Amino acid sequence: MDRRLQVFAGNSNLALAEEIVALLEIPLGKALVTTFKNGETRVRLEENVRGSDVFVLQSTCSPVDHNLIELLIMIDALRRASANRITAVVPYYGYAKQEKKTAGREPISAKLVANLIHTAGADRVLTVDLHAPAIEGFFDIPVDHLRASPLLASYFQGLGVEDIVVVSPDAGGVGRANEFRERFGASLAIIAKQRPEPDVAEVLEMVGDVAGKTAIIIDDMISTGGTLVEATEVLMERGAREVYAAATHPILAADAPQLLRQSVMREVVVTNTVPVAPEMRDSKIKVLTIAPLLAEAIMRIHKDLSLSALFT
Ligand code: R5P
Repeated sequence: MDRRLQVFAGNSNLALAEEIVALLEIPLGKALVTTFKNGETRVRLEENVRGSDVFVLQSTCSPVDHNLIELLIMIDALRRASANRITAVVPYYGYAKQEKKTAGREPISAKLVANLIHTAGADRVLTVDLHAPAIEGFFDIPVDHLRASPLLASYFQGLGVEDIVVVSPDAGGVGRANEFRERFGASLAIIAKQRPEPDVAEVLEMVGDVAGKTAIIIDDMISTGGTLVEATEVLMERGAREVYAAATHPILAADAPQLLRQSVMREVVVTNTVPVAPEMRDSKIKVLTIAPLLAEAIMRIHKDLSLSALFT
């Protein structure tokens, strides 16, 4: 039986949800997603979902806990309303940096979030560039883990920049940077970074030749912007001709937009997995839309088709 496709969204990234449903040529599912006066999240689905193949879109960006709870409560409502299959579409998966203990007596919050999404009633998860790919294994339901690298790479190919060195701003990002590098046949440089305290980045060392080259730093997210700013300084000191940055998730916490603007970086290219206010977008901060990738993935999942073509 051909099940009906429906897409609902929490409040975290309605603009992205609207773009996705426009591409799918379906209306956004009607739902009340608001708060009671006591601060609790209130959800009511305003259309029938019985027997449907439902996708619920929510990035767990700031306000992280609120957005997470909206997602969980929406999944619960969909399950109780007899949706046939529920896919949690989480373009940005918050708590992903807490995927292991770094000291004793710490939680593994990324695993807890996975448990919550599963327990709420999700049958599958669709996400983009998890901070740590191992998080996929925290779920006992299917996870489709998309990459923004084809989108980011095609932007740079369009710019026509030459003599590129792709830079991983930390040891954890080497796999991602290497995959990105292969798309250009570029060379690779690796920065070793340390965090003397949370949200503070310090460059320890850099391996690779960047002199006279266009450096593209590739990262999964920009939070305080410290990692990119520090990396840019080192790259310029070592003789890079110019520095670009590409990252999937623009968290842009605190005064990150200001820091990025003050830096000598040529351009910072991000996607809209996390919404970026119009006043933050300018010639320095460029936002590419991830909507076509997510819309295509949703359609393929709905039709039980392979997603492999989306990784090339
Ligand atoms: C590594 O920890 C991540 O891949 C990013 O490099 C990091 O989250 C960026 O954070 P910030 O912008 O605060 O330096």
